Amino acid sequence: MKIIKASFLTVLIFFVISCQPKKVGLQDNDYYKKVDSLMKLMTLQEKIGQTVMYSGGWSVTGPIISDNNISYIKNGDVGAMLNVYTAEGTRKLQEIAVNETRLGIPLLFGYDVIHGFKTIFPINLAAASSWDLDDIEKTSRIAADEASSSGIHWTFAPMLDVARDPRWGRISEGAGEDVFLTSKTAEAYVKGFQGDNLYDKTTILACAKHFVGYGAAQAGRDYHTVNMGEGELRNVYLPPFKAAIDAGVETFMTAFNELNGVPATANKFLYKEILRNEWKFNGFVVTDYTAINELIKHGFAKDAKEATKLAMNAGIDMDMMSSANRKYLSSLVKEGSLQENQVNEACRRVLLAKYKLGLFDNPYKYIDKDREKNTIYKREYLNAARHSAAISSVLLKNDARTLPLNKTQKIALIGPLANDKRHILGNWAAAGDRKGKAASVYDGFKEYLPKNRIFYAKGCEIDSKEKENFTKAISTANKADMIVLVLGEDYNMSGEAASRSSIKLPGNQTSLLKALRNKFPKKKIVLVLMNGRPLDLSEEELLTDAILEAWFPGTMGGLGIADVLFGTYNPSGKLPVTFPRNVGQIPIYYNMKNTGRPIPENNPKQDYKSNYLDIPNTPLYPFGHGLSYTKFTYSNVTLSSKSNTYSSSLEATVDIKNDGDYDGFEIAQLYIHDKVGSVTRPVKELKGFKKIFLKKGETKTITFTINAENLKFYNSNMEYTVEPGEFEIAIQGSSDFKFKNTFVLEDI
Ligand code: NOJ
Repeated sequence: MKIIKASFLTVLIFFVISCQPKKVGLQDNDYYKKVDSLMKLMTLQEKIGQTVMYSGGWSVTGPIISDNNISYIKNGDVGAMLNVYTAEGTRKLQEIAVNETRLGIPLLFGYDVIHGFKTIFPINLAAASSWDLDDIEKTSRIAADEASSSGIHWTFAPMLDVARDPRWGRISEGAGEDVFLTSKTAEAYVKGFQGDNLYDKTTILACAKHFVGYGAAQAGRDYHTVNMGEGELRNVYLPPFKAAIDAGVETFMTAFNELNGVPATANKFLYKEILRNEWKFNGFVVTDYTAINELIKHGFAKDAKEATKLAMNAGIDMDMMSSANRKYLSSLVKEGSLQENQVNEACRRVLLAKYKLGLFDNPYKYIDKDREKNTIYKREYLNAARHSAAISSVLLKNDARTLPLNKTQKIALIGPLANDKRHILGNWAAAGDRKGKAASVYDGFKEYLPKNRIFYAKGCEIDSKEKENFTKAISTANKADMIVLVLGEDYNMSGEAASRSSIKLPGNQTSLLKALRNKFPKKKIVLVLMNGRPLDLSEEELLTDAILEAWFPGTMGGLGIADVLFGTYNPSGKLPVTFPRNVGQIPIYYNMKNTGRPIPENNPKQDYKSNYLDIPNTPLYPFGHGLSYTKFTYSNVTLSSKSNTYSSSLEATVDIKNDGDYDGFEIAQLYIHDKVGSVTRPVKELKGFKKIFLKKGETKTITFTINAENLKFYNSNMEYTVEPGEFEIAIQGSSDFKFKNTFVLEDI
């Protein structure tokens, strides 16, 4: 044994000397050569080991499986670990892999760094509400810096599942309902996590998940069945993943759902045909947690051995927590049910990632206690989190200029989330501290008002039927000039396995609002919401003067929210997802199809039209909606030409004027409508957006360029194509508008 180890060390030393830091591209032949030479030394068992991942269980993100992970590491049966972090903790495990296994191959440490690592940024749906790609890239860079200083090499993010059902708890983890916006955020997340150079110790591997269709779970119930035509798959659900590949994402994760009868984790069409053959993806694919074993429950594999074979045949490289590869791959190869080459491919891809990170040069590269201490919760990072919270909040309504708050008033701050430091981080808050590190809204208010002008009462719990604290809330409100009510969801009501059949505020919170409104019909009530999904706010809309959707805003959330409420930051967020009037409208999204019987504009009540008898078709708040303390006026839309060709491009310009009393940012959105197609096209499609700053009174002209590439879609033959004809076009501050301009795409 010693001799083998010594000879390996010689080889390893060769690697160490020859492996100089440099920028690495996917086609880097040197790295492939190094992997191949190492693989020549590896037994089948050791190669299989690289395709196995176990949880350290320090964070719980799935059912814990009682396998003896340490002894597996010692045997070389494990290539990666999840849910372990800290420089000290990861070092212990890495030392075992490096010093006690035959070949000393370092472990890869993965973790769910979803919207921050220790410094928690607003949840991803909130980040998408900022429409600020630079900020998403910057905060992902910060998350990577913090996580990597704590031993992490790999994040299981970004989640790129387009989601149009607010009952689904995981809508909070993505960028909402739109394919274009989700694709743009995909690029920003990947760039942020992976940086320009994976060899740099502050960068980590990103993981595009969950491939694919997970957001379309039937009835919004997590893990549920997904059926969809290939056209919808290609036009809506796949593009964000392709965008991640174009941005250089190194890994993919499978989805828990089945797609058209075949579970994603064993779906050859998805992995072999699309991911590898069409998109030429070279990185590795990991299963979701225990997903290979779940092929049995899906009714797709008779036992774990067959499930292992099906996943490997589909092109899946790493097994997260099923123990399937470890237990069955070797016998499947030995009995000829799988080719050794399939295992080689999987192992090769995992090793390649480890080389790119530089782990063969220094397995402890990411493990540095001093760096960890100096990186986590840096003042600069906390300030960035405060800014992100402010730019991610969306002002849904603001009657009679209720906001910004007047600093000379006495304010009653009421609600179960008004002084909360726990839920404010949202779900998937990684290693975030829920025990007091976060700044509550109350903390934020203390920065703007003297204590004797803030009157606080909790009012009720988030999800309880009791009303006994209403009296205290009413007497507190009685002392103040106006009321700020902070309501919302428990952080565990969104995220994984957190679907809800009702999307109303839970518990007695709406009753608390009603009680306050009844008692104080003249007092202004501002509702601040913290939640992980669009809510049914039809009652709240009628009872309040202003509503700020703060989502779950993170570690510095309370300060960022106060900055918005008191006018230090003029709100600029826009909804990345539609807010329905009630749960019966779901799924509702702005880029729907017209149907053969749309309701006429002038007579929405006409019979035999596509409508509801009891409510309008329109949502409560549309996609792209979000108010500012100032007013932006759009005028003079001009097109550089009324027609366009396949090879030319057209410029659309618009003047945007800040017509109000505050400086502010506006997010201008470009929409088009392909009027007639060989397959029907959505009534509106977002094709561009720009975040611009305008001083009060200022006008700016902005330009979008439209070319054939922006107009392409998958037709019924699954060709990605553009069709000539008439298009409608608009540049607006929300998706709620009627088109007035058209251009023609000529067939030349
Ligand atoms: C299950 C989740 O679906 C996935 O998103 C996550 O990355 C893994 N668990 C690991 O925690």
